[in-house]
Amino acid sequence: LRPIHRLLSCPRTVAAEIKREEQSSGSVETGSEGRTPKKTFSEVQKERREQAQRTVLIHCPNKISVKKFLKYLSQHGPINNHFFYESFGLYAVVEFCQKESVTSLQNGTRTPSMGTEAAIPFRSRVFNLKTKNPSNPTSEQSRVQCSIHAPPSSKKLLELLCYAESIDDQLNTLLKELQLTEENTKLRYLTCSLIEDIAAAYFLDCTVRPFGSSVNSFGKLGCDLDMFLDLDEIGKFSANKTSGNFLMEFQVKNVPSERIATQKILSVIGECLDHFGPGCVGVQKILNARCPLVRFSHQASGFQCDLTTNNRIALKSSELLYIYGALDSRVRALVFSIRCWARAHSLTSSIPGSWITNFSLTMMVIFFLQRRSPPILPTLDSLKTLADAEDKCVIEGHNCTFVRDLNKIKPSGNTETLELLLKEFFEYFGNFAFNKNSINIRQGREQNKPESSPLHIQNPFETSLNISKNVSQSQLQKFVDLARESAWILNQEDKDRPSSSRSQPWGLAALLLPSVVNSASLAKRVRKKPASERIKSLLESIKSSGPENATSTNGK
Ligand code: GTP
Ligand code: MG
Repeated sequence: LRPIHRLLSCPRTVAAEIKREEQSSGSVETGSEGRTPKKTFSEVQKERREQAQRTVLIHCPNKISVKKFLKYLSQHGPINNHFFYESFGLYAVVEFCQKESVTSLQNGTRTPSMGTEAAIPFRSRVFNLKTKNPSNPTSEQSRVQCSIHAPPSSKKLLELLCYAESIDDQLNTLLKELQLTEENTKLRYLTCSLIEDIAAAYFLDCTVRPFGSSVNSFGKLGCDLDMFLDLDEIGKFSANKTSGNFLMEFQVKNVPSERIATQKILSVIGECLDHFGPGCVGVQKILNARCPLVRFSHQASGFQCDLTTNNRIALKSSELLYIYGALDSRVRALVFSIRCWARAHSLTSSIPGSWITNFSLTMMVIFFLQRRSPPILPTLDSLKTLADAEDKCVIEGHNCTFVRDLNKIKPSGNTETLELLLKEFFEYFGNFAFNKNSINIRQGREQNKPESSPLHIQNPFETSLNISKNVSQSQLQKFVDLARESAWILNQEDKDRPSSSRSQPWGLAALLLPSVVNSASLAKRVRKKPASERIKSLLESIKSSGPENATSTNGK
């Protein structure tokens, strides 16, 4: 039997959907061999955005007959696909084949009449489904199958890693378990689209685009949702349409600076989200930050959202990372493992502070892969050389040009294994001259540090800026110590491997266990105990503190 949603769907889009699902669940084998042509970043964004605009979010009763629910909705038009998930109750994401179906559904929906409270009659695409006879459930009403949007527990992850075949297999397993799923990605684009509806009440034709790890291919289940309110497209296409000697401009209000304009816009949108946005809670306007933003929780999707505007360079950085992530399948596997390793050892945190960010860690991995021989990733300068006239992009005076068509970039001839790369990453950064050198993915080689921050990673587009200016000397030292310790563990394991038992954390799993290293006594301790003994005592220590304490896979 074909599932009901397939029966209700339009065949053309279903075929496309199946193909996309097959592509997105593609294998994660090492190496760059067997690459299929990949879509450009803007093609993906455009397609996903259009899909989200045809989609609605419905809060459902806990038990429901899926068949009847879909039949009821298909009165408004054919359904392309749907899925259920749990977040403060049961939700359904339903994608229609046509946008008109959403309007039809909205037209057939009433605003609830409240008891003592009053409803603000905002017509969004978030609905509540009520059953007419809640006291009389039918036999078809049952618990529905929900898609999972949380990362696996630390215990489960460690178990999976322990049962892997090799360290390469461990890195690929970690990637497979933590990466964003197709459903989670859809929910992210849908959430942006819902926020866009609210912002469009003021700025008709604006776009709210996801950026950062939601789209750069390095996002992990549970990561925040960075959104960019794009007002630049407004009025772009209507300009220069008419002939003749005149040019028409909108009369607008002027403010003293771009920053003030950004603050004013975000302030109003923040108010709007707070007062009218269904499920938008905990709205904070952080307008004095270097990059002003509105932070809020979107209850229905469960995402922590950061909304910014006038932040086009960040979107371009996301595109660049997407390209690097797509060029070679080893890149994402390595970045996920390094990010997870850093989080497990509290090198990164969801709270801003003097720690390294995931963004900086990703830059370090890219830089490291550019330094391999032969290089696994090209330098940003060489991606610029491959660019054609259409790729040209200058933002606020910064040249952000690089080739956007992945198929124009030659695959690397490097065949190193993930195991080797992981070990070499730790060795490379465990011995990097951070005191005098800067990391620079534009040129792909170390440069003299232009200023005295402990860690200097050149911002790829605003080249006079350091993306890790916040990192303190002690946090950098902690990173270096842990990198050295991890390289040492992996080297020891090489020697121990044949005799070591696979039921104990080994390889990547051993690296994610709490470190016994106190940075001051690192050298001494490391020399004292053999790896097997150390792993045994580490295991004892997690057993006594509970498995959930071993690594944190929640949040960033
Ligand atoms: P997560 O930790 O998974 O959220 O990774 P992320 O890449 O989404 O990082 P974050 O949410 O902190 O930032 C979102 C995006 O903003 C990043 O992907 C970058 O494009 C950009 N960004 C973050 N930090 C910096 C920075 O220090 N300098 C610059 N230029 N851009 C930054
Ligand atoms: Mg983010």
